[in-house]
Amino acid sequence: MSNEIIVSGMRPTGKLHLGNYHGALKNFVALQDKYKCFFFVADLHALTTSYKHTENLAANSEQMLIDWLSAGLDPEKCTIFLQSDVPEVSELNTLLGMITPLGWLLRNPTYKDQVNELLARKYAGQLKGDENTPLAERVKGLADEDISVYGFLGYPVLMAVDILIHKAAFVPVGEDQTAHVEIARDLVRRFNEIYGVDNVFVEPKPLYTKETKVPGLDGHKMSKSYHNTIDLGEDLDSVRKKIMTMYTDPNKKKANDPADPEGCVVYAFHKIYNPDAAKRCAECKAGALGCVACKKQLFELMEPELKGFLDRRKIFESDKAQLRAILHKGKEAARASAAVTLEQAKRAMKLIA
Ligand code: TRP
Repeated sequence: MSNEIIVSGMRPTGKLHLGNYHGALKNFVALQDKYKCFFFVADLHALTTSYKHTENLAANSEQMLIDWLSAGLDPEKCTIFLQSDVPEVSELNTLLGMITPLGWLLRNPTYKDQVNELLARKYAGQLKGDENTPLAERVKGLADEDISVYGFLGYPVLMAVDILIHKAAFVPVGEDQTAHVEIARDLVRRFNEIYGVDNVFVEPKPLYTKETKVPGLDGHKMSKSYHNTIDLGEDLDSVRKKIMTMYTDPNKKKANDPADPEGCVVYAFHKIYNPDAAKRCAECKAGALGCVACKKQLFELMEPELKGFLDRRKIFESDKAQLRAILHKGKEAARASAAVTLEQAKRAMKLIA
């Protein structure tokens, strides 16, 4: 067990899918045994892009929390909390906002690209033109919420605060978050330079998860907006049916036709769930096994883990008092940790003596 601190958060999108699990959550669960971890539901970050549609925000946060717990995050081992439960975060956000150059935010990696990227993800089914059309054209007119707002521009400042307020050494994130962690590091140096200190914040390093690619049922990236997910707490019959619809080599027409497993979604899943995936690959190439049998076996391999998620989900879903207690405990611990850094920052800025 290391004394080093880890912070990470996820925007609450509701129920998580296997892409979220293998891409991030599974790693959180492993890290809680090795580091002092703070994991939070980034509900304020959700507001930066969905400030008008807040009717599902609390429910989405709760569903994500249930998935975290079902996957094995343990409030006895790590601090689990709701971002908006920690007012110190918002206070430090105000303070660090004062020293954040606009250029850093406008260039992140370019704020405009991000706005377009987000719209494209959100309205994936309604994009105009084809892949050769510039993204800015493809998203025109789709937004029902204008995300050219102060809060969204300030997204990286708030994220830096999440990390710095607990003095995290490492931040487990996807590579898409590199620029954000870099801004957090730059803010530490700028704060130190302006206020002549070096011990308020720690420069955090990204901790990239070994990439486990989980394709969606259709072979594209697994994503809610593409309607190609298998959810963590999905009932087993539904999963079985979905596996039967998975994309396979279209050239394999008969059960004993030889086929190419690269690009086959079933094979991509075997690589995750089947210790004998290499053998399966050879069988597929030799035409020794039909897709239906291959899919049935995949389901059997996935079933124990999925059943575990499902059983634990049922327990947490029916025990709201326990969920409240977990968040309360997390909030107390996160506030205590945050208050220390906030006070040091205010002292460095001469707001308090
Ligand atoms: N920006 C992250 C994402 O979209 C979520 C996030 C918010 C986060 N604050 C954070 C991740 C702090 C790590 C640390 O995935």
